[in-house]
Amino acid sequence: MKRIFASLVASIVAATAAAQTVKIGVIGTYTGPQAVFGEMTDRAFKLYHKLHEKELPPGVKLEFLTRDDGGPNPDKARQLAQELIVRDRVQLLAGIAFTPNAMAIAPVVTEAKIPLILTNAGTSIVTTRSPYIVRFSFTLWQSCVPLGEWAAKKFKRVYMLVADYAPGTDAETAFSQGFKAGGGEMIGSVRVPVQNPDFAPYLQRVKDAKPDALMVFIPAGKTSTSLMKTFADLGLAAAGIKLIGPGDITTDEELPNMGDVALGVTTVHHYSAAAERPANRRFVEAWKKEYGTTSTPNFAAVAAWDAMDAIFQLVKAQKGNIESERTMELLKAYRNPDSPRGPIAIDPETRDIVQNEYLREVRKVGGQLANVELENTATTEKDPWKEAQKKK
Ligand code: PHB
Repeated sequence: MKRIFASLVASIVAATAAAQTVKIGVIGTYTGPQAVFGEMTDRAFKLYHKLHEKELPPGVKLEFLTRDDGGPNPDKARQLAQELIVRDRVQLLAGIAFTPNAMAIAPVVTEAKIPLILTNAGTSIVTTRSPYIVRFSFTLWQSCVPLGEWAAKKFKRVYMLVADYAPGTDAETAFSQGFKAGGGEMIGSVRVPVQNPDFAPYLQRVKDAKPDALMVFIPAGKTSTSLMKTFADLGLAAAGIKLIGPGDITTDEELPNMGDVALGVTTVHHYSAAAERPANRRFVEAWKKEYGTTSTPNFAAVAAWDAMDAIFQLVKAQKGNIESERTMELLKAYRNPDSPRGPIAIDPETRDIVQNEYLREVRKVGGQLANVELENTATTEKDPWKEAQKKK
């Protein structure tokens, strides 16, 4: 009798404990040319979790089930999301570097009613594809409209080079809109393969067109270093062509690999590891203490950091028993006046991030290349594409 009672108690305890373990599926890019996205997301999630675990309600634990999509592979991403939801019974999904993967997962999370917290995937339309998607990263429209407006004050003739997929098209349209509104002339545009492009033939064409500036969007990572080096090797910088783009092209962790060819490149973005804000200084310091002085968090890291802050809030508010509709309500109301990137909020109407954009220039600070923030080009900016849709 005693033994039966003991095992009954044990199974009740086990069931309660299980109910209070929140299972989070993380889908990211951990291999291939853009593996840095997975590394940044993972490191930010782990660091936030380590530093804040004690704030979770007693007995509540988070379990992360991490899966690799290997890059822009929509079929693979969809399959991973299905497995995580149906077999592993995750209660939340987070991550996703690439837009095509987010688009492929959208119908899956809608059907299963599982919230998906994006930590990258920056094409504007993505969040409209499911009421269960909320974005903690950025949209290309947020950076490229202010970049175009700024460029119109500096340059007459601009050429554009973008990765040939949805975020590239967004970058192209958004930049042209801002640039043309300011009186600039687009003299050409070229699209390059998303993965492993050979930039030389494209950049030669740009050089021959003699623009004042070249605006580039390609996915951040090692590819941006190869773009930068080819730009210098072919003599575009020497010919006086200025390189500009969203911050993806001068992603913080690649600056040491780019070397001095990156000096003077001007970008607009929502996050720089070199930003002076106290919240950013604390974030970067904690990061370097954990991962070493040669590791630098980039924009994917700050998105994951903020996303984990939101996950902690929603888990705490529901005492570990999370439910999708309540979780979405909490995510839509999320705001943080003091993120490492400045004040942020989720727009409850669109479930998209609201944030500042900064004009930055690559300079040397203390002997190291850094994206030095010069001014705010947009303050608490909602996704301009969605704002324009509302007016139609
Ligand atoms: C995307 O696929 O949405 C994406 C990927 C990498 C970036 C930006 C956007 O740097």
